[in-house]
Amino acid sequence: MKVLVIGSGGREHALAWKIRQSPRVHQIFVAPGNAGTASVGQNVPLKLGEIEGLLNFAKQESIDLTVVGPDDVLAAGIVDLFEDAGLRIFGPRRDAAQLESSKSFAKRFMLRHGIPTARFGEYESSAAAKAALDQFGFPLAVKADGLALGKGVIIAQDRSEAEAAIVDMIDRGRFGNAGRKIVIEEFLSGIECSIHALVDGRSYLLFPTAQDHKPLYDGNQGPNTGGMGTFSPSQKLTPALLQEIREKILDPFMLGIKNDRIPFRGLLFPGLMLTSEGPRVLEFNCRFGDPETQVLLPRLQTDIVDLLEATIDERLDTVTATWDSRAAVCIVMASGGYPSHYEVGKRIVGLEQAGQMDGVTVFHAGTRQHENRIITSGGRVLGVTAVGETLSAAKRRAYDAVEKIEFDGRYFRRDIGLI
Ligand code: AMP
Ligand code: GLY
Repeated sequence: MKVLVIGSGGREHALAWKIRQSPRVHQIFVAPGNAGTASVGQNVPLKLGEIEGLLNFAKQESIDLTVVGPDDVLAAGIVDLFEDAGLRIFGPRRDAAQLESSKSFAKRFMLRHGIPTARFGEYESSAAAKAALDQFGFPLAVKADGLALGKGVIIAQDRSEAEAAIVDMIDRGRFGNAGRKIVIEEFLSGIECSIHALVDGRSYLLFPTAQDHKPLYDGNQGPNTGGMGTFSPSQKLTPALLQEIREKILDPFMLGIKNDRIPFRGLLFPGLMLTSEGPRVLEFNCRFGDPETQVLLPRLQTDIVDLLEATIDERLDTVTATWDSRAAVCIVMASGGYPSHYEVGKRIVGLEQAGQMDGVTVFHAGTRQHENRIITSGGRVLGVTAVGETLSAAKRRAYDAVEKIEFDGRYFRRDIGLI
């Protein structure tokens, strides 16, 4: 088989790395990829925003299976385009991807199908939004309706912060069209976690647990990022809680997409808040998490291509996945200054020594080959991942590997897997 992976992050490197292990696959392309994906497949310099170009490439190369990483490419309708041209592709069609790309669509879906979530309202004028604030109390969450690179949620502590966020989004266009419409939600407190499940429209296959650390600094302080590190399994989600999540969230989700005829074939990754009144959905992501994928796939023992194909063919009920019982930890090494301004073009050394360590895989994100060197090209640069018999063994290995890698301004959290 020939497989095309779309995207250029650590998630896509992990996907391509896992797909490479399939005996059924003889060639992998990654568009556009990074310096790491170039070692598991062939990078193709195509733009993610130009889905017609990606389709033309897949046709020319007779790609048997395309796997999509990023949310915005799904929201642009790449799956509709490929499927309508008769090509096999993994991911939800645009109508289904709206569960991630429109918060109001997702909230209405949850309301209709009894999926527990925060009380909310949706607004397109700042006057109406301001007038509604008292219904929610403070703090509350102000959310851009559309995709905003994970930055479109403001937790406002009081009225002035909430009004500023509303004006910024609706009147000043801070997130462009993504924020012209907003959702306001009551604040939920509790423990945040997430799950991953393959969904084929008829059944689902739940992955083991993984936990992200979104804040930039140790102790979960500082601004939110795309994710500074992950570990799997997570002890937060006990078997009893997972059962509750199946009954209160996944089962109604499956019934909901059936009733609404939403064609969901892909990966469902809901963000959850475990409140004192039970689990609540904060958001639905319709794609693999980054860096959750970097700790989940090293534990997967089943051929991933079989699972992706079973999802596309709506026969997930006929497959099982087996998982390594060992733990995995991924430490994100970022450019100093991320998630705000940071410099790129820094030479990275020590990749080989780290990658040769027992149980260690270095997934690349913002990296690029320049002459015979590998240099930084993004905010999140590497996801240094290790497996070990226990969480602490995996963590020790991952941090030992991180210490072997140097680049100017490198930054990483020192407490991944600890809290
Ligand atoms: P979202 O993209 O909707 O998951 O929101 C991003 C982050 O904002 C979440 O990971 C939570 O930490 C926080 N958040 C979102 N909605 C709420 C809420 N209703 N109550 C408390 N925190 C929230
Ligand atoms: N790590 C969070 C995400 O992929 O959205």
